Amino acid sequence: MILPLNLGKDSYDIVIERTALDRIGEYLKLDRKCLILTDSGVPSKYSEAVKRASRDGYIYTIPEGEGSKSFDNYKSILSFMVENAFTRTDCVVAVGGGVCGDLGGFVAASYMRGIDFYNVPTTLLSQLDSSIGGKVAIDLDGVKNIVGAFYQPKKVVIDPNTLKTLDQRQKMAGLCEGIKMAACMNSQLFELIENSTDLESDLDEIIVEGLKIKKAVVEEDPHEKGLRRVLNFGHTIGHAIESNAGLAELLHGECVALGSLPMASDDVRARLENVYKKYNLPTKIDTDSDVLMSYIKRDKKAMGDSITVVFVEKIGEFQFIKMKTDEIKKYIDGGILK
Ligand SMILES: NC(=O)c1ccc[n+]([C@@H]2O[C@H](COP(=O)([O-])OP(=O)(O)OC[C@H]3O[C@@H](n4cnc5c(N)ncnc54)[C@H](O)[C@@H]3O)[C@@H](O)[C@H]2O)c1
Ligand SMILES: [Zn+2]
Repeated sequence: MILPLNLGKDSYDIVIERTALDRIGEYLKLDRKCLILTDSGVPSKYSEAVKRASRDGYIYTIPEGEGSKSFDNYKSILSFMVENAFTRTDCVVAVGGGVCGDLGGFVAASYMRGIDFYNVPTTLLSQLDSSIGGKVAIDLDGVKNIVGAFYQPKKVVIDPNTLKTLDQRQKMAGLCEGIKMAACMNSQLFELIENSTDLESDLDEIIVEGLKIKKAVVEEDPHEKGLRRVLNFGHTIGHAIESNAGLAELLHGECVALGSLPMASDDVRARLENVYKKYNLPTKIDTDSDVLMSYIKRDKKAMGDSITVVFVEKIGEFQFIKMKTDEIKKYIDGGILK
Protein backbone atom coordinates (compact mmCIF):
# COMPACT_ATOMS: atom_id res chain seq x y z
CA MET A 1 0.00 0.00 0.00
CA ILE A 2 1.01 3.61 -0.42
CA LEU A 3 0.51 6.31 2.21
CA PRO A 4 1.07 9.82 0.87
CA LEU A 5 2.64 12.27 3.31
CA ASN A 6 1.30 15.69 2.39
CA LEU A 7 3.67 18.55 3.00
CA GLY A 8 3.14 20.80 -0.02
CA LYS A 9 6.20 20.78 -2.23
CA ASP A 10 7.96 18.43 0.21
CA SER A 11 5.26 15.73 -0.09
CA TYR A 12 6.27 12.12 -0.66
CA ASP A 13 4.94 8.60 -0.73
CA ILE A 14 5.52 5.91 1.85
CA VAL A 15 5.40 2.48 0.21
CA ILE A 16 4.65 -0.42 2.57
CA GLU A 17 4.88 -3.75 0.83
CA ARG A 18 6.37 -7.15 1.53
CA THR A 19 9.04 -7.93 -1.13
CA ALA A 20 9.22 -4.25 -2.19
CA LEU A 21 13.00 -4.52 -1.93
CA ASP A 22 12.99 -6.98 -4.84
CA ARG A 23 11.42 -4.28 -7.00
CA ILE A 24 13.19 -1.28 -5.51
CA GLY A 25 14.08 0.10 -8.95
CA GLU A 26 10.36 0.56 -9.65
CA TYR A 27 9.96 2.81 -6.62
CA LEU A 28 13.14 4.87 -6.57
CA LYS A 29 14.86 6.81 -9.32
CA LEU A 30 18.17 4.96 -9.31
CA ASP A 31 19.47 5.67 -12.83
CA ARG A 32 22.21 7.89 -11.42
CA LYS A 33 24.97 7.81 -8.81
CA CYS A 34 23.55 6.43 -5.57
CA LEU A 35 25.33 6.51 -2.22
CA ILE A 36 23.83 3.49 -0.46
CA LEU A 37 24.44 3.90 3.27
CA THR A 38 24.15 0.82 5.44
CA ASP A 39 25.75 -0.55 8.61
CA SER A 40 27.69 -3.68 9.48
CA GLY A 41 24.74 -5.25 11.34
CA VAL A 42 22.28 -4.93 8.47
CA PRO A 43 22.38 -8.07 6.28
CA SER A 44 24.26 -7.00 3.13
CA LYS A 45 21.64 -8.54 0.84
CA TYR A 46 19.42 -5.49 1.42
CA SER A 47 21.98 -2.89 0.31
CA GLU A 48 23.07 -5.19 -2.54
CA ALA A 49 19.49 -5.30 -3.82
CA VAL A 50 19.54 -1.49 -4.04
CA LYS A 51 22.96 -1.53 -5.72
CA ARG A 52 21.76 -4.06 -8.32
CA ALA A 53 18.89 -1.77 -9.20
CA SER A 54 21.14 1.31 -9.44
CA ARG A 55 22.92 2.48 -12.54
CA ASP A 56 25.94 3.56 -10.51
CA GLY A 57 25.60 2.45 -6.89
CA TYR A 58 28.26 2.79 -4.17
CA ILE A 59 27.65 0.88 -0.94
CA TYR A 60 29.12 2.67 2.09
CA THR A 61 29.09 0.56 5.29
CA ILE A 62 29.51 2.11 8.73
CA PRO A 63 29.94 0.08 11.94
CA GLU A 64 26.62 -0.78 13.57
CA GLY A 65 25.45 1.15 16.62
CA GLU A 66 24.56 4.63 17.81
CA GLY A 67 28.29 5.55 17.93
CA SER A 68 28.20 5.70 14.12
CA LYS A 69 25.89 8.73 14.08
CA SER A 70 29.07 10.73 14.42
CA PHE A 71 30.70 13.79 12.92
CA ASP A 72 33.63 11.61 11.79
CA ASN A 73 31.38 9.34 9.74
CA TYR A 74 29.44 12.32 8.42
CA LYS A 75 32.66 13.89 7.17
CA SER A 76 34.06 10.64 5.74
CA ILE A 77 30.88 10.00 3.74
CA LEU A 78 30.89 13.54 2.35
CA SER A 79 34.58 13.15 1.41
CA PHE A 80 33.76 9.85 -0.30
CA MET A 81 31.05 11.59 -2.32
CA VAL A 82 33.40 14.41 -3.33
CA GLU A 83 36.07 11.86 -4.32
CA ASN A 84 33.57 10.01 -6.46
CA ALA A 85 32.22 13.18 -8.04
CA PHE A 86 28.64 12.97 -6.80
CA THR A 87 26.65 15.86 -8.26
CA ARG A 88 23.52 17.73 -7.27
CA THR A 89 21.34 15.36 -9.31
CA ASP A 90 22.63 12.20 -7.56
CA CYS A 91 21.08 10.66 -4.45
CA VAL A 92 21.57 9.03 -1.05
CA VAL A 93 19.70 5.84 -0.09
CA ALA A 94 19.73 4.79 3.57
CA VAL A 95 19.31 1.02 4.05
CA GLY A 96 19.14 0.18 7.74
CA GLY A 97 17.63 1.40 11.00
CA GLY A 98 17.38 4.88 12.48
CA VAL A 99 21.16 5.23 12.63
CA CYS A 100 21.57 4.94 8.84
CA GLY A 101 18.42 6.99 8.24
CA ASP A 102 19.39 9.87 10.52
CA LEU A 103 23.00 10.03 9.29
CA GLY A 104 22.19 9.40 5.61
CA GLY A 105 19.45 12.01 5.71
CA PHE A 106 21.80 14.61 7.17
CA VAL A 107 24.44 13.82 4.54
CA ALA A 108 21.80 14.26 1.81
CA ALA A 109 20.52 17.47 3.43
CA SER A 110 23.92 19.12 3.37
CA TYR A 111 25.82 17.72 0.36
CA MET A 112 25.70 20.51 -2.24
CA ARG A 113 22.97 22.16 -0.13
CA GLY A 114 20.70 19.15 -0.48
CA ILE A 115 20.35 16.19 -2.84
CA ASP A 116 17.61 13.57 -3.11
CA PHE A 117 17.25 11.28 -0.13
CA TYR A 118 15.49 7.91 -0.05
CA ASN A 119 14.91 5.91 3.10
CA VAL A 120 14.64 2.12 3.09
CA PRO A 121 14.19 1.35 6.80
CA THR A 122 14.89 -2.19 7.99
CA THR A 123 14.16 -2.09 11.75
CA LEU A 124 10.71 -1.97 13.33
CA LEU A 125 11.58 1.36 14.99
CA SER A 126 12.55 2.94 11.69
CA GLN A 127 9.65 1.38 9.77
CA LEU A 128 6.95 2.69 12.05
CA ASP A 129 8.55 5.90 13.24
CA SER A 130 11.95 7.36 12.38
CA SER A 131 11.99 6.94 8.57
CA ILE A 132 9.23 9.49 8.03
CA GLY A 133 8.97 13.07 9.18
CA GLY A 134 12.30 14.43 8.04
CA LYS A 135 14.22 14.73 11.30
CA VAL A 136 17.82 13.94 10.39
CA ALA A 137 20.78 14.33 12.70
CA ILE A 138 24.08 13.21 14.13
CA ASP A 139 25.29 13.16 17.74
CA LEU A 140 28.16 15.36 18.96
CA ASP A 141 30.16 15.43 22.20
CA GLY A 142 27.87 12.84 23.76
CA VAL A 143 24.71 14.83 23.01
CA LYS A 144 22.18 12.95 20.90
CA ASN A 145 20.85 14.52 17.70
CA ILE A 146 22.42 17.87 18.52
CA VAL A 147 23.42 18.67 14.91
CA GLY A 148 20.81 18.12 12.24
CA ALA A 149 18.06 19.44 10.04
CA PHE A 150 14.50 18.97 8.93
CA TYR A 151 14.95 17.35 5.53
CA GLN A 152 12.22 15.21 4.04
CA PRO A 153 13.02 12.10 2.01
CA LYS A 154 11.78 11.88 -1.58
CA LYS A 155 10.32 8.45 -0.87
CA VAL A 156 10.27 5.84 1.89
CA VAL A 157 10.10 2.16 0.97
CA ILE A 158 9.21 -0.23 3.77
CA ASP A 159 9.55 -3.96 3.19
CA PRO A 160 8.41 -5.68 6.40
CA ASN A 161 10.09 -8.89 5.18
CA THR A 162 13.40 -7.33 6.20
CA LEU A 163 12.26 -7.69 9.82
CA LYS A 164 12.67 -11.47 9.52
CA THR A 165 16.41 -11.07 10.16
CA LEU A 166 16.01 -8.53 12.97
CA ASP A 167 16.81 -9.69 16.47
CA GLN A 168 13.77 -10.19 18.72
CA ARG A 169 15.02 -7.72 21.34
CA GLN A 170 15.50 -4.99 18.69
CA LYS A 171 12.04 -5.74 17.38
CA MET A 172 10.42 -5.36 20.79
CA ALA A 173 12.33 -2.14 21.46
CA GLY A 174 11.01 -0.79 18.16
CA LEU A 175 7.49 -1.81 19.11
CA CYS A 176 7.73 0.64 22.04
CA GLU A 177 7.55 3.60 19.66
CA GLY A 178 4.32 2.10 18.31
CA ILE A 179 2.97 1.57 21.83
CA LYS A 180 3.93 5.18 22.61
CA MET A 181 1.93 6.58 19.68
CA ALA A 182 -1.02 4.27 20.29
CA ALA A 183 -1.17 5.15 24.01
CA CYS A 184 -1.40 8.84 23.16
CA MET A 185 -3.55 8.78 20.07
CA ASN A 186 -5.14 5.52 19.03
CA SER A 187 -6.78 3.24 21.59
CA GLN A 188 -7.65 0.64 18.91
CA LEU A 189 -4.03 0.23 17.94
CA PHE A 190 -3.15 -0.03 21.63
CA GLU A 191 -5.72 -2.80 22.04
CA LEU A 192 -4.40 -4.59 18.96
CA ILE A 193 -0.90 -4.66 20.48
CA GLU A 194 -2.25 -5.41 23.96
CA ASN A 195 -4.35 -8.38 22.81
CA SER A 196 -2.27 -9.71 19.93
CA THR A 197 -1.81 -13.47 20.00
CA ASP A 198 0.41 -13.49 16.90
CA LEU A 199 2.51 -10.35 16.73
CA GLU A 200 4.30 -11.44 13.54
CA SER A 201 1.10 -11.53 11.57
CA ASP A 202 -0.16 -8.28 13.15
CA LEU A 203 3.06 -6.41 12.34
CA ASP A 204 1.95 -5.03 8.97
CA GLU A 205 -1.13 -3.49 10.53
CA ILE A 206 0.88 -2.12 13.47
CA ILE A 207 3.39 -0.51 11.07
CA VAL A 208 0.68 1.03 8.89
CA GLU A 209 -1.35 2.32 11.85
CA GLY A 210 1.77 3.69 13.55
CA LEU A 211 2.75 5.47 10.33
CA LYS A 212 -0.74 6.92 9.98
CA ILE A 213 -0.48 8.47 13.44
CA LYS A 214 2.96 9.91 12.76
CA LYS A 215 1.93 11.11 9.29
CA ALA A 216 -1.02 13.06 10.73
CA VAL A 217 1.18 14.60 13.42
CA VAL A 218 3.94 15.57 10.98
CA GLU A 219 1.48 17.01 8.46
CA GLU A 220 -0.01 19.18 11.19
CA ASP A 221 3.30 20.27 12.71
CA PRO A 222 6.31 19.45 10.51
CA HIS A 223 8.81 21.54 12.50
CA GLU A 224 7.81 20.45 16.01
CA LYS A 225 6.44 23.75 17.20
CA GLY A 226 3.57 22.15 19.12
CA LEU A 227 1.64 18.94 18.47
CA ARG A 228 4.66 16.97 17.22
CA ARG A 229 6.03 17.05 20.76
CA VAL A 230 3.47 14.36 21.57
CA LEU A 231 5.90 11.91 19.94
CA ASN A 232 8.16 12.58 22.92
CA PHE A 233 5.85 10.64 25.27
CA GLY A 234 8.17 8.66 27.54
CA HIS A 235 11.24 10.41 26.17
CA THR A 236 11.97 12.95 28.94
CA ILE A 237 12.78 10.27 31.49
CA GLY A 238 13.69 7.85 28.66
CA HIS A 239 16.50 10.07 27.40
CA ALA A 240 17.77 10.56 30.95
CA ILE A 241 17.96 6.78 31.36
CA GLU A 242 19.65 6.49 27.95
CA SER A 243 22.20 9.20 28.72
CA ASN A 244 23.12 7.62 32.04
CA ALA A 245 26.24 5.69 31.13
CA GLY A 246 25.61 2.98 33.70
CA LEU A 247 22.40 2.04 31.92
CA ALA A 248 23.83 2.19 28.42
CA GLU A 249 23.08 -1.45 27.76
CA LEU A 250 19.40 -0.61 27.41
CA LEU A 251 18.08 0.06 23.89
CA HIS A 252 16.33 3.34 23.05
CA GLY A 253 12.85 1.76 22.94
CA GLU A 254 13.44 0.06 26.29
CA CYS A 255 14.32 3.44 27.84
CA VAL A 256 11.15 4.93 26.35
CA ALA A 257 9.09 2.10 27.86
CA LEU A 258 10.52 2.84 31.31
CA GLY A 259 10.14 6.59 30.77
CA SER A 260 6.48 6.31 29.85
CA LEU A 261 5.37 4.59 33.05
CA PRO A 262 5.68 7.58 35.40
CA MET A 263 3.88 9.79 32.84
CA ALA A 264 0.55 7.99 33.01
CA SER A 265 -2.47 7.67 35.30
CA ASP A 266 -2.64 4.57 37.53
CA ASP A 267 -4.98 2.82 35.08
CA VAL A 268 -2.86 3.56 32.06
CA ARG A 269 0.33 2.64 33.88
CA ALA A 270 -1.13 -0.76 34.77
CA ARG A 271 -2.02 -1.42 31.13
CA LEU A 272 1.36 -0.23 29.89
CA GLU A 273 3.11 -2.44 32.44
CA ASN A 274 1.16 -5.47 31.26
CA VAL A 275 1.99 -4.79 27.62
CA TYR A 276 5.68 -4.30 28.38
CA LYS A 277 5.79 -7.52 30.39
CA LYS A 278 4.04 -9.37 27.57
CA TYR A 279 6.76 -8.30 25.13
CA ASN A 280 9.68 -8.79 27.54
CA LEU A 281 10.30 -5.08 27.90
CA PRO A 282 11.63 -3.65 31.17
CA THR A 283 9.31 -2.05 33.72
CA LYS A 284 11.86 -1.48 36.51
CA ILE A 285 15.43 -0.24 36.66
CA ASP A 286 18.11 -0.28 39.25
CA THR A 287 19.34 3.29 39.47
CA ASP A 288 19.42 6.43 41.53
CA SER A 289 16.69 8.94 40.77
CA ASP A 290 18.97 11.86 41.69
CA VAL A 291 21.28 10.89 38.85
CA LEU A 292 18.36 10.71 36.41
CA MET A 293 17.13 14.08 37.64
CA SER A 294 20.50 15.66 36.84
CA TYR A 295 19.99 14.62 33.20
CA ILE A 296 16.34 15.68 33.14
CA LYS A 297 17.25 19.16 34.33
CA ARG A 298 19.51 19.49 31.29
CA ASP A 299 16.69 18.50 28.91
CA LYS A 300 16.04 20.93 26.03
CA LYS A 301 12.44 21.27 27.25
CA ALA A 302 13.31 22.19 30.86
CA MET A 303 12.50 25.72 32.01
CA GLY A 304 13.65 26.62 35.52
CA ASP A 305 12.36 23.97 37.90
CA SER A 306 9.63 22.67 35.65
CA ILE A 307 9.37 20.85 32.36
CA THR A 308 6.57 20.27 29.87
CA VAL A 309 5.83 16.57 29.53
CA VAL A 310 3.30 14.42 27.69
CA PHE A 311 0.94 12.75 30.15
CA VAL A 312 -1.58 10.02 29.34
CA GLU A 313 -4.63 9.97 31.58
CA LYS A 314 -6.67 7.65 29.37
CA ILE A 315 -5.43 5.39 26.55
CA GLY A 316 -5.79 7.21 23.21
CA GLU A 317 -5.70 10.70 24.73
CA PHE A 318 -2.83 12.87 25.90
CA GLN A 319 -2.14 16.19 27.57
CA PHE A 320 0.88 18.44 27.66
CA ILE A 321 1.48 19.34 31.28
CA LYS A 322 4.05 21.42 33.08
CA MET A 323 5.55 19.29 35.81
CA LYS A 324 7.87 20.39 38.57
CA THR A 325 11.11 18.42 38.54
CA ASP A 326 10.45 17.38 42.20
CA GLU A 327 7.21 15.86 41.09
CA ILE A 328 8.93 13.92 38.29
CA LYS A 329 11.38 12.58 40.86
CA LYS A 330 8.48 11.46 43.06
CA TYR A 331 6.94 9.55 40.13
CA ILE A 332 10.26 7.91 39.32
CA ASP A 333 10.85 6.94 42.95
CA GLY A 334 7.36 5.57 43.32
CA GLY A 335 7.18 3.86 39.94
CA ILE A 336 10.09 2.38 38.10
CA LEU A 337 12.91 1.86 40.59
CA LYS A 338 13.78 -1.67 41.61
N1 LIG B 1 14.55 10.75 12.96
C1 LIG B 1 13.61 10.44 13.82
O1 LIG B 1 12.50 10.94 13.78
C2 LIG B 1 13.92 9.40 14.84
C3 LIG B 1 12.89 8.87 15.64
C4 LIG B 1 13.21 7.85 16.54
C5 LIG B 1 14.52 7.40 16.65
N2 LIG B 1 15.49 7.95 15.87
C6 LIG B 1 16.88 7.47 15.93
O2 LIG B 1 16.92 6.13 15.47
C7 LIG B 1 18.06 5.48 16.04
C8 LIG B 1 17.65 4.11 16.48
O3 LIG B 1 17.19 3.40 15.38
P1 LIG B 1 17.05 1.80 15.41
O4 LIG B 1 16.36 1.37 16.63
O5 LIG B 1 16.53 1.42 14.08
O6 LIG B 1 18.56 1.35 15.62
P2 LIG B 1 19.77 0.99 14.65
O7 LIG B 1 19.72 1.74 13.38
O8 LIG B 1 20.99 1.09 15.47
O9 LIG B 1 19.48 -0.55 14.32
C9 LIG B 1 19.50 -1.50 15.37
C10 LIG B 1 20.40 -2.70 15.05
O10 LIG B 1 19.71 -3.53 14.11
C11 LIG B 1 20.59 -3.88 13.04
N3 LIG B 1 19.71 -4.08 11.89
C12 LIG B 1 19.06 -3.15 11.17
N4 LIG B 1 18.21 -3.72 10.30
C13 LIG B 1 18.36 -5.06 10.44
C14 LIG B 1 17.73 -6.19 9.84
N5 LIG B 1 16.75 -6.05 8.95
N6 LIG B 1 18.12 -7.42 10.22
C15 LIG B 1 19.09 -7.56 11.17
N7 LIG B 1 19.68 -6.54 11.81
C16 LIG B 1 19.33 -5.30 11.44
C17 LIG B 1 21.56 -2.73 12.95
O11 LIG B 1 22.77 -3.14 12.36
C18 LIG B 1 21.72 -2.34 14.41
O12 LIG B 1 22.72 -3.15 15.02
C19 LIG B 1 18.55 6.37 17.15
O13 LIG B 1 19.74 7.00 16.73
C20 LIG B 1 17.45 7.40 17.33
O14 LIG B 1 17.94 8.66 17.75
C21 LIG B 1 15.21 8.93 14.97
ZN1 LIG C 1 12.12 7.45 20.42
